[in-house]
Amino acid sequence: MNDVSPIRIIGISGSLRSRSSNTHILRAAASLAPGDMIITMYEGLGDLPLFNPDTDGDKPTAQVADLRTRLNAADGVLICTPEYAGGMPGALKNALDWIVSSGELMNKPAAAISASPSLTGGEKALESLRLTLRMLSADVADDGTVAIPLVSAKLSAEGELTDAATVLQLQLVLGALARQVRELQTREPGSL
Ligand SMILES: Cc1cc2nc3c(=O)[nH]c(=O)nc-3n(C[C@H](O)[C@H](O)[C@H](O)COP(=O)(O)O)c2cc1C
Repeated sequence: MNDVSPIRIIGISGSLRSRSSNTHILRAAASLAPGDMIITMYEGLGDLPLFNPDTDGDKPTAQVADLRTRLNAADGVLICTPEYAGGMPGALKNALDWIVSSGELMNKPAAAISASPSLTGGEKALESLRLTLRMLSADVADDGTVAIPLVSAKLSAEGELTDAATVLQLQLVLGALARQVRELQTREPGSL
């Protein structure tokens, strides 16, 4: 009998585009997750107000409060981002700015993916995301990140992931995330 509680991961796509390749990759990751992991998509990125320290007080807007509550409730976070002009999209950075002072990602296991039609796979966006996650004191494992190049050729017209090597890469990232969560839980008695 397995009485270990499931690992709850919140998945965030850095793209607001309806046919986003990054959202497709995130959904593929959700379907590839190990049996003890549940990945739930965060859909509120585009509804967040622009970050303003003046309004970053005890009474945040409903959208900001919702983001913070969801992150608090999760055991970890999986972010999949496009690269815009050599960095992560403003919408994603905006969301992360809202949790600098509230600290929901502090010591929280996190994995980061970038996907791009380019040859680089959006590695600069991944680098900027990793830097921001480090500033937020999130716990990103060395094997918890991957840049996916030429992503358009790896997705079907319906957005299904068709590339076996990318499937393997996603499984490795998910395995690293699961390992981090379980390690953290063994350091926090009673959390399993
Ligand atoms: C304004 C803009 C800037 C972009 N800059 C980059 C870039 O710096 N590097 C890159 O690899 N792709 C860049 N792209 C291409 C995106 O990687 C591509 O549109 C990708 O499909 C976006 O991700 P999504 O499919 O998840 O929405 C850019 C696209 C746009 C619209």
